Amino acid sequence: MDFAQDRKHIAEYIDIGGEILYLGRHECENIGLTRSDILELTEAALVAHGQKDYEMPAKIGVHPYDDVFYHAMPAYVPARAAVGMKWIECYPNNPAKFDLPQTTGLLVLNDVMSGCPIAVMDSTWITAMRTPAVTILAAQKLHPRAKDFGMFGCGVQGREHVRFASEHLSTLERIHVYDVDPAAAGGLIADLSPEVDVELVQANTPRDIVESCELMSSATIITKETLCVVQDEWVRPGQTILPCDLNTFWDPRISRRADRYIVDSLDEHRLFEDMGYFPDGLPAVDCETGEIVAGLRPGRASDDELIVCSNIGMAVCDVVVGRAVFDLALGTDRGIRLTL
Ligand SMILES: NC(=O)c1ccc[n+]([C@@H]2O[C@H](COP(=O)([O-])OP(=O)(O)OC[C@H]3O[C@@H](n4cnc5c(N)ncnc54)[C@H](O)[C@@H]3O)[C@@H](O)[C@H]2O)c1
Repeated sequence: MDFAQDRKHIAEYIDIGGEILYLGRHECENIGLTRSDILELTEAALVAHGQKDYEMPAKIGVHPYDDVFYHAMPAYVPARAAVGMKWIECYPNNPAKFDLPQTTGLLVLNDVMSGCPIAVMDSTWITAMRTPAVTILAAQKLHPRAKDFGMFGCGVQGREHVRFASEHLSTLERIHVYDVDPAAAGGLIADLSPEVDVELVQANTPRDIVESCELMSSATIITKETLCVVQDEWVRPGQTILPCDLNTFWDPRISRRADRYIVDSLDEHRLFEDMGYFPDGLPAVDCETGEIVAGLRPGRASDDELIVCSNIGMAVCDVVVGRAVFDLALGTDRGIRLTL
């Protein structure tokens, strides 16, 4: 990446050091990035992470109440001239209490050469898109040829996981969904059936999903105490589990006995362990997701491996996707210029 050239390009559109571009949620969402684009950008971020060509200290946070967190997520990915920080919160009770999303936030981007802020944007849509992209990229390596995919949690993440899986896991025949709120699962099926080309099946119980699916993901709720909704006895060799919600949803024995326990970021997982999110301790980690996606570590090696790959979310993905959103907005009338 030629940083000087990049800076010159940005400076054609905004006064670096004098103003920033503010992009709202609607503008990010309608900037013109497809799911294929997001997958490509997320892959670039994961490859950079796997190749250790990045800087990303583990999230620091504040915690006004039990089981809520705000995280500062800085990252630098030189290959994409992407440097900045996401400031995000997770309030699990927001949907019930305030009819607001569990997770909202802002992303700040900076000019690599001068450090000046160049953009502030909503990060809700970016988070909603890059998270399933990580799941799908991991699934392509860890469970190629899956036919039945199971999704636990039918909220923002569940819906995007269904869209990404149907578009980018080419052998899938069915997606089974479960939510503690049956109306959420029913709503997902009613809304997404017309746009996806695989069969969507509403599961009556979590066990139905574990019995029907070889590949599963969960995006429900993150709490310090594990809920153990999926019990260890139900899980069999050959399955691949890709939680987005740490080990809250899953019996922790599953990760302990898995043939491979992979995490997106060892540093982040250790941090959550220190905060008390792994009451029995973090299982032994095999490698990081980016190493698999970069081809530095093997994907699935045999049909009977039990694999758990926990992706808690990495800022490298946010800044790379955010930078692409910013690039597309330059030279258009999208966004609002704010004086520094
Ligand atoms: N790994 C990441 O990068 C990443 C990114 C964003 C969000 N998340 C996490 O993903 C989770 C979901 O986020 P979201 O924005 O989709 O939230 P959401 O509130 O839109 O959806 C969550 C869904 O899970 C359901 N649910 C809650 N408890 C359940 C249970 N015990 N069994 C089955 N379903 C249950 C809820 O009814 C709801 O429909 C949160 O824990 C969030 O912190 C992770």
